[in-house]
Amino acid sequence: MRPVEIKDGIFWVGAIDWSERDFHNFLTRRGLTYNSYLIIDEKIALVDTVKHKFVGESLERIRKIVDPSQIDYIIINHIEPDHSSGLPDMIRVAKDATVICSQRAKEDLRKYYGDGWETKTVKGGEELKLGKRTLLFFDMTMLHWPDSMATYIKEDKILLSNDAFGQHVASEGRFDEDLGVEEALYWAKLYYANILMPLASLIRKKLGEIQKLGLEIEMIAPSHGVIWKNPSKIIEAYSRWANFESENKVVIVYDSMWNSTERLATAIAEGAGSQGADVKIFHVRKDPWVDIVTEILDAKSIAVGSPTIHNGLFPTVAGFLTYLKGLKPQNKKALAFGSYGWNGNAVKEIQKVFEELKLETLEPLMIKFRPNEDELQKAFELGVELAR
Ligand code: FEO
Repeated sequence: MRPVEIKDGIFWVGAIDWSERDFHNFLTRRGLTYNSYLIIDEKIALVDTVKHKFVGESLERIRKIVDPSQIDYIIINHIEPDHSSGLPDMIRVAKDATVICSQRAKEDLRKYYGDGWETKTVKGGEELKLGKRTLLFFDMTMLHWPDSMATYIKEDKILLSNDAFGQHVASEGRFDEDLGVEEALYWAKLYYANILMPLASLIRKKLGEIQKLGLEIEMIAPSHGVIWKNPSKIIEAYSRWANFESENKVVIVYDSMWNSTERLATAIAEGAGSQGADVKIFHVRKDPWVDIVTEILDAKSIAVGSPTIHNGLFPTVAGFLTYLKGLKPQNKKALAFGSYGWNGNAVKEIQKVFEELKLETLEPLMIKFRPNEDELQKAFELGVELAR
């Protein structure tokens, strides 16, 4: 368990969770990391702790650099337990450390863990001098929790961004270039789509603020995944995603009882494909939802299909729509479709969700029992329309 020096006197001392496959229902098929950073200066600061069961691993890395009882500050950028649940154990060792966090974090940390430590609250724009280095705190309220903030090391031009710019992937290498920048961007997109998509307008605002401040960022060190030595790549990607810039792509998502809704889905796919669109088709019961919404993020059109059962949505589609609604995709054409026996309520329910999301909808396609040739042709034409 070795630390990794990411810049002179600044170390990664986090933990790698190779085997976790479920991060509060987010499929982490390649595991994940909990990143924690140790800054050695006249004062010693630890930025973010790790999930409680990995505190031993983090301490092992810290002890290779310094006696953890000498830590002066523990900065809690965000209280979600994947970052903060290690705090009580860490502070038993770093017993003289002062916790630095936002006011909201102070209140909510107490709710989670009680309080047995000294806390100093900071606001966005405040600074903390460590010696040669200065930490500048950034208000990140609701990005993605009310307590969230980020820490910028001014002299080193490193942004310790916590969840923002993170990825759920475990790897031996600590940097984007070790994993491969393109692969790191793929995992970052998956993370963004499933966690940050509903916060697009706040992210646009925050990116604008950073630009206005003229802040130089040479490295972004998030609290999950690899560290960005190429920060412009991930900042540009966030700007594209937050603006819902779309590719020439149509995503079709469905479930089926007796293959009728499936036949409609494939006819729609053929129609969209005939126009040169990149077509992605997902079976909502068989394909991971994390992958589906990652493709939806930058699709120009989506189609969601469900058979009607018990006068309503097929339960898998209902669950997926609940997930999708929370993620608030924007800037897309949308088509609701499905087969029914004696009422088509499922399709009406899908349409209702699209309308709540304020997506531009096409006339829904409701087919009684098995689609005939004319009805499949209609589905094909709707696919063409989605791709145009
Ligand atoms: Fe919002 Fe990584 O926790």
